[in-house]
Amino acid sequence: KVADLKGLKQGQLKLAVITTAKYFVPRLLGPFCQLYPGIDISLQVTNHERILERMVNNLDDLYIMSQVPENIDVNCQPFLDNPLVVFAPVNHPLAKETNIPIQRLAQEPFIMREPGSGTRRAVQSLFDEHEVAVNVKLELGSNEAIKQAIAGGLGISVLSRHTLIAESSELSILDVQHFPIKRTWYMVYPSGKQLSIVARTYYDYLINAAKNFIEQNTSFSWGTFEQF
Ligand code: PGA
Repeated sequence: KVADLKGLKQGQLKLAVITTAKYFVPRLLGPFCQLYPGIDISLQVTNHERILERMVNNLDDLYIMSQVPENIDVNCQPFLDNPLVVFAPVNHPLAKETNIPIQRLAQEPFIMREPGSGTRRAVQSLFDEHEVAVNVKLELGSNEAIKQAIAGGLGISVLSRHTLIAESSELSILDVQHFPIKRTWYMVYPSGKQLSIVARTYYDYLINAAKNFIEQNTSFSWGTFEQF
């Protein structure tokens, strides 16, 4: 029987995902564990640099990240968009404006992720490209802490659109030129690595779940995030 076959899939699955994926991956673990009750999971959530370190040390079966490693030979499969957008408090004066010039952001106190963060790197490179020198008031190592700081009026920031789930009454997304920064989540593993049956099962499951997610959230496209 099918149920028996599924029961045969047993063992440990070790995942390491970048911080933004924690808004997506844990939710999908529930259905996965119901399908495969014999699989035990450990999930590390950390920033881009730490993920690279873990990969070099071969600590996990699979990795989810939004930037493919440059110096490690990997297999990678893009599976979902992960746009970075500008967040401000809901009552911020810029919240009502459209097509805000990127240079305008230099006049606002800015909250930045820690060194080693992929978000920080992407944001900094866009600002460098447009010669925008933001006024970094605060550096924080957590997307959640940054959202709280924005809501508390400490400044604006750029974060993954996926970090916004329930607090939409406190935060708004500003319509700034050159945003969103387009990024994509990838499922990654080192090229030389042979995936275990358990890891291969999860890999196929997640790619498929992401497809369904896109189909169910057809409003999820560049520029129209409202209903997502
Ligand atoms: P970060 O990565 O946590 O290193 O900023 C997030 C991302 O790349 O989506």
